[in-house]
Amino acid sequence: MLTAIGTPRPRIDGVDKVTGRAAYAADRRPEGLLYALAVRSPVACGTITALDRSVAEAIPGVVAVYTHENAAGLLDWRPRPAVLALGGEALGRTALAGAEPEPPPPYWPLGGPEVVFAGQWIAIVVATSLEAAREATLAVRPRILRTPSSVQPAVGDPFLAPGFFFAADMQVRRGSWPEAPEVVLSTTFHTPMQLHHPMEPSATVAIWRGDTVAVHDSTQGAVAARDYIAASLDIAPERVRVDAAYVGGGFGGKNQMWPHQALAAHIARHLGHPVRLQLTRADMAVASGHRSGTEQVVDLASDGEGHLEGLRHASFVPTSLRGNFFEPCGLNTLLLYDTPALEVTHAVARKAIASPTPFRAPGETPGSFAVESALDELAFDLGINPLELRRRNFAARDPYHQRDWSSNQLLACYARGAEAFGWPEQMPPPRTLRDGDALVGFGMATTAYPAPALPATVRLRLQAEGSLVVETSATDIGTGMRTILAQTVADRFGHAFDDIAVRLGDSSLPDAPTAGRSKSTASLLPAAAAACAVLRDKLADLAAGHGLPAASNRSPVAVLQAAGLAELVAEGRSAGMTDKAKDRSYYSFGAHFVELRVDERLGRLRVSRVVSALDCGRIINPTTATSQIRGGIIFGLGMALMEGAAFHPVDHRIIGDNLADYPVPVHADIPPIEVIFVENADTAFNEFGARGLGEIGVPGLAAAVANAVFHATGRRFRDLPITPAKIVSL
Ligand code: MOS
Repeated sequence: MLTAIGTPRPRIDGVDKVTGRAAYAADRRPEGLLYALAVRSPVACGTITALDRSVAEAIPGVVAVYTHENAAGLLDWRPRPAVLALGGEALGRTALAGAEPEPPPPYWPLGGPEVVFAGQWIAIVVATSLEAAREATLAVRPRILRTPSSVQPAVGDPFLAPGFFFAADMQVRRGSWPEAPEVVLSTTFHTPMQLHHPMEPSATVAIWRGDTVAVHDSTQGAVAARDYIAASLDIAPERVRVDAAYVGGGFGGKNQMWPHQALAAHIARHLGHPVRLQLTRADMAVASGHRSGTEQVVDLASDGEGHLEGLRHASFVPTSLRGNFFEPCGLNTLLLYDTPALEVTHAVARKAIASPTPFRAPGETPGSFAVESALDELAFDLGINPLELRRRNFAARDPYHQRDWSSNQLLACYARGAEAFGWPEQMPPPRTLRDGDALVGFGMATTAYPAPALPATVRLRLQAEGSLVVETSATDIGTGMRTILAQTVADRFGHAFDDIAVRLGDSSLPDAPTAGRSKSTASLLPAAAAACAVLRDKLADLAAGHGLPAASNRSPVAVLQAAGLAELVAEGRSAGMTDKAKDRSYYSFGAHFVELRVDERLGRLRVSRVVSALDCGRIINPTTATSQIRGGIIFGLGMALMEGAAFHPVDHRIIGDNLADYPVPVHADIPPIEVIFVENADTAFNEFGARGLGEIGVPGLAAAVANAVFHATGRRFRDLPITPAKIVSL
């Protein structure tokens, strides 16, 4: 079926998921399963002086209580900086390399009496039932000698100046600041700590058989998890098999590796039983990362027509005392607008917080809130339509890398989005549009997101009974990867879509990158296409070997049957970003348009509609693609209006580590959303012309909302979220 690509298709795993047939990690209940839960430190900093296990150990069903006093030797692990830095993988390890003379030792739970953030795991209890384990967590009472802690970057902190992160310079100064610009605007923005809160909390079930361990894990990267767990156990990766067939959302919180993924295997080995280590909702806030709060200062210098002459974007963000990840807010600022003078800097302070980690377009999202809000402010100051101001500063090529874009339809996104939305040619002045008691406002902002690709392998198994099985270790974290792989193979091999089965998320399947940074489509589809070509060649050889005419109208399955084979296997590999490809910059672009209503007396704010036009290259499946963008827009609405966790003022615990105190948009909060794809096949990027689109919907949306609030009310909100309490306070 050669039309499979570009055809709307519901997710092929949708029914399995909504009917409960799809088994998630914590659904695995092997014989003899033990339940492990963590005990969190109630305070941020200090030294554990006493941690009595005896009360917990006496609870019926409790099998073990591990603390720093008995764990190290028993569980036979050692923190090894190269592997076990909190937030594991490549990202966290390199972020602050060279930025400080003496990197701190890596964090490892139960590694010693020292407490370095509130919520740190100070004990792990294991029991024959979840109930007994829960009771035991309450019975572990630590005594902690507190020391002062600080969680918020502040003036006077010894800030680090990191060099390179997320493939970009973190300290950039280009051109010289204009001496007497006509207009100067200096603004400061704050975004709060955000928690991922995916539907499915992280969980790991480890089952040893002899000297190999099977691990059912909720992770964005099965291969990365396998390597991490194997390294922590000091065994060969072949002895660890990670299964993440279904993942109930990741949002970045399951992108990096976290200690619980290894600990489950250590505890299972030590106790000689399968072990499930389940993160509670509260654990999710401290043991699987978060987006840190940010403070961002944006300075704009412009001529009277809104042409930027200088753009400064300084970010002040925290990292943990032992980790390395920080929010790289300036990524899009490096290249989205054309300006002779540019300064993008990041200052990072070590604080007594759990490690931050990637979160729904890390960097681009909070960064675009600040810069896109400031540009709106400049536009209104100058009396220029905010859309026109952005057009005037369009970067026709990538000014940071000094390269051409592979394909950039941003101007078309502006035009198509504005048309569909009905964006006014002349902006009515703020506070002039009304609907009954409500003030009405329009706001817009630009979004952009990089399009990386990494090498990946896809295997095909053509079976004599007619099915074609697609296999790769890549995960589908709710994106639709299963479905678009089936579409790709249906298209390139000409097999019936319904006869294609896709197996994902098993580390013993061919190698694939972690699902993150919106790279899976561009990494996997070319590999699937390559596998189709190999399979076709093998079939041709098979046909020739059996004297079947090459151009016979026999189906591939008929050839297989004639040859007496049960199955034919082929693998294809993609190259990721080749050196040749690096001559250009691969980015996706878009524009968000928001209409909302504000009743200032009640503080009531309702977004009434969103129109977003995006250039993500060619769209493989309009249904799943639109769903991804809608999800991103909903993230953006949450960020703009609802989301935000805080630190308790005394003990620095996280307030909002549950779904009651951390509001996210629900159906009733979500307005009509129109997603428009400006499709231009990016064939310089890959043969499909497709770029990833998992995150492009998020950046810019919060700014579009804040800009619409300004247009409605005449008031600028530079601190998120824009809550009813802030709207009613004057
Ligand atoms: Mo995603 S926030 O790149 O895992």
